[in-house]
Amino acid sequence: MSLFRKKSVASILHNASLQEGHSLAKHLGVRDLTAFGIAAIVGAGIFSTIGKASADGGPGVIFLFLFTALACSFAAFAYAEFASLIPVSGSAYTYSYVAFGELFAWIIGWALIMEYAIGNVTVAISWSDYFTTLVQNTSNYKVMDWLCLDYFTAKHNWLAVKELLVHGAYLDEIKADGKTSGLLEGYLAFENAPHIGSLRFIFDLPALVINLLITMLVYRGIQESRNASNLMVLIKIAVVLVVISVGAFYVDTKNWHPFMPNGIPGLLKGISAVFFAYIGFDAISTTAEECKNPQRDLPRGILYSIIICTILYVAIALVITGMVNYSELNVGDPLAYVFEKVKSLHWLSSVIAVSAVVAMASVMLVFQLGQPRIWMSMSRDGLLPPAFSKIHPKYKTPSFSTIITGLLVALPIFFVDINMVTDICSAGTLFAFCLVCGGVLKLRMDPTAPVSKFKTPYVNSKFIVPLLFIATVVYIYLQKDLLMHYTSIHSLQQVYALIPAYSFLICFALFSILAFLYNFSLIPSLGLLSCFYMLSQLGYKNWLYFGVWLVLGLIIYFVYGRKHSKLAPLKK
Ligand code: ALA
Repeated sequence: MSLFRKKSVASILHNASLQEGHSLAKHLGVRDLTAFGIAAIVGAGIFSTIGKASADGGPGVIFLFLFTALACSFAAFAYAEFASLIPVSGSAYTYSYVAFGELFAWIIGWALIMEYAIGNVTVAISWSDYFTTLVQNTSNYKVMDWLCLDYFTAKHNWLAVKELLVHGAYLDEIKADGKTSGLLEGYLAFENAPHIGSLRFIFDLPALVINLLITMLVYRGIQESRNASNLMVLIKIAVVLVVISVGAFYVDTKNWHPFMPNGIPGLLKGISAVFFAYIGFDAISTTAEECKNPQRDLPRGILYSIIICTILYVAIALVITGMVNYSELNVGDPLAYVFEKVKSLHWLSSVIAVSAVVAMASVMLVFQLGQPRIWMSMSRDGLLPPAFSKIHPKYKTPSFSTIITGLLVALPIFFVDINMVTDICSAGTLFAFCLVCGGVLKLRMDPTAPVSKFKTPYVNSKFIVPLLFIATVVYIYLQKDLLMHYTSIHSLQQVYALIPAYSFLICFALFSILAFLYNFSLIPSLGLLSCFYMLSQLGYKNWLYFGVWLVLGLIIYFVYGRKHSKLAPLKK
């Protein structure tokens, strides 16, 4: 079927080399790539979402960081292998084209928009939160509420506060109560916003401005972006190291008891937040065409950046959960918060806020760099209009795609809720990771497939994966709570809620059989299973949103991409 027509590695490399005069500038070495990786990884996750994950999981959140790092490393091997085999800009999109064919390639390209563009919406909004707090703390100037919030959050909070007021509460009480104080910003934004008739002007101006600046930088050139990125990485790593080394002196080991106060369920609540903290290493592979020696440097850059970030994350988690009781950490700026508690270290809290602003800008930079390059690859294949692969004659960047990315990030900033976009971003990324790991397995099944210069060490999973499946089932059976969770169904809602968990178990069972039959390689197998497991923990609503997004993508594919694809239909 032409839906599954595949590309050969040789044809991809040939086509990329044919872009004579339209090729990207090659400036990146292994140090730049590692820096790009760290630039993409260390951001809102470690400066912000780690707080809630630690409050739910306690100091034991480090186990979640280690588990996630392991899952990401398995997936990273798959990315590294593909990036070394096909060093072109399309990343997971191009890899799926080779392994699974056009339809999957389109699906993955479409899913990656969730990671890069929608991920950047999350980061831009978090950036704005830190930035406005920083402005207020350093200059005492308060940015108007209606200029730092999206419309729907403001309206939602306004309605909630109105409800409380109707029931006799006073604004001062609402402000003083920790449970409701967070609603006030939205309420005031809605109340004070300029309006024409009933239409109120409420939008997150700093988020829009940072998006505009980053888009301009990325448009301007890879070299400028690289220099900016390297500088931002230096600043944020320096601050993270200061946090760890200074904070270590203020750790009170009593805070580490109990280490896992809410057990494994408490830890699992943080899965999306912790995974979000790791997203980004894969973005390095989108710069393949701008590397001096992609086959050697890309795998190294990807793995080095994950290792460095894991060490930093675990150290930071230990420091912040050691400095204060884990239950206090459910705040948006946990790193700044723990230092505010130590009188002599107030100054450090401001330094952290500044570096959070820098760190998040650098994440945005890398994501904003990745998205246009994936579109460029899709357009070269005819799945998107030719304008998407247009290279700027002077700056040598995919100019049209870069502008569209900027617009795509800007639009949702007006109306989306940050938690929703974070989860959807994680879902899209995990989906991509699963397919990339699956792609490596699929390629290895084909004896005629080309061999990458970087090869994941092979360990036969024939017995290990089926044994892991049996162990999982036995574990669920022995844990009464888990068994209840899987079997007690009283409503349709519960059926929906269990769809992801059962999907995982069924796929795990089928995968075990395939692993046994085809002697799958262990590392990509574990990558696929661990990423799918995390995906199954994201909740059915995110599956639903993601499903709607995929259907929309399929419609576009059948209306445009399939007809314009440059690949010849398969011979019958
Ligand atoms: N890992 C990136 C961050 O934490 C997405 O901001």
